[in-house]
Amino acid sequence: MSLLVIGSTGTLGRQVVRKALNEGFQVKCLVRSFRKATFLKEWGAELIYGDLSIAESIPLSLYGVSAIIDCSTSRANDLYNIELIELQSKYILIESAIKAGIKRYIFFSIFNSFNYKDIPLVTLKLMIEYRLKVSGLNYTIFHLPGFFQGLIPQYALPILDEQFIWITSESSLISYINTQDIAKMAISSLSISQFNQNILPLVGNKSWRSLDVINLCEQISGRRAQINTIPVYLLNFLKNFTKLFQWTWSISERLAFIEMLSSSYNTNAQMKEILYILQIDEKELEQLEVYLQEYFERIMKKLKEINYQISSNEKNVNQAEF
Ligand SMILES: NC(=O)c1ccc[n+]([C@@H]2O[C@H](COP(=O)([O-])OP(=O)(O)OC[C@H]3O[C@@H](n4cnc5c(N)ncnc54)[C@H](OP(=O)(O)O)[C@@H]3O)[C@@H](O)[C@H]2O)c1
Repeated sequence: MSLLVIGSTGTLGRQVVRKALNEGFQVKCLVRSFRKATFLKEWGAELIYGDLSIAESIPLSLYGVSAIIDCSTSRANDLYNIELIELQSKYILIESAIKAGIKRYIFFSIFNSFNYKDIPLVTLKLMIEYRLKVSGLNYTIFHLPGFFQGLIPQYALPILDEQFIWITSESSLISYINTQDIAKMAISSLSISQFNQNILPLVGNKSWRSLDVINLCEQISGRRAQINTIPVYLLNFLKNFTKLFQWTWSISERLAFIEMLSSSYNTNAQMKEILYILQIDEKELEQLEVYLQEYFERIMKKLKEINYQISSNEKNVNQAEF
């Protein structure tokens, strides 16, 4: 099976590419910068130029492809309208997939998306979900919560840098998951018919509140976090305020997304069934405690090496001065 991975340079996309190559798939990656995607070529993937904001580049990338895994999403710093990436380009991708006779199509959406229809990013995701449902394609839509990898810039780095961490006043439970586990399950699902034309959640095995994650980071790193709590009403005000200016639309939509992640959502029992079908033991899913422990150990080791280098350089300078 020849796979086309879209969004392959991203947090999830790169894990999907790596897993697919390890499993022996032929992998093509639609990328808008060959330089940025060099590592994917080194792993063994084929790079194809494409930009979701350039409609004509989409159908050409499907040549010789039998399955599509779409891991793309608009980058927070992209200036153009997210509607172009999240909606218009994805409509073109689906139309092209139908014409090209694509056999499997995987799309990633947001966990419990149907509960947050008023959030623009989610609305666009839901429109794509609907388009896939009526497409006749053999699609699988996976609903994802937050990623382990997202917790590093959100909590771990601010603790190490002694920066403030912003959390919302309403604490909620999120079943974070490692993107490596998502990639493993998505690739395994390609050959299983029960996943065809289905919408399924992929979540981690434990739910966390923001403060629990912060406490965990503090325990492992031995450092104190500086926390600022923002009330949800203020977040709403900021969201509406930034909407007054067109150039800040994407900021307001990102804020809305944070708000959504701060609303209550729970682990779905369907996950157990998915693991059963994929023959994956729940214990195989990485635990957040282990992930963060390994992260902080690596960082602390690096910091020690840097401090050692700085102090031995200073020693050499001092010795040279006397
Ligand atoms: N992150 C989360 O916590 C989370 C939670 C729930 C669901 N999801 C969903 O999971 C999926 C993967 O998310 P992620 O966090 O891994 O995304 P990400 O790291 O932000 O990566 C986005 C990818 O999309 C590509 N892309 C953006 N604009 C493009 C364009 N115009 N043309 C071609 N490629 C373009 C980026 O390419 P460049 O490298 O060239 O920018 C990058 O490879 C998305 O569908 C997202 O909505 C994520």
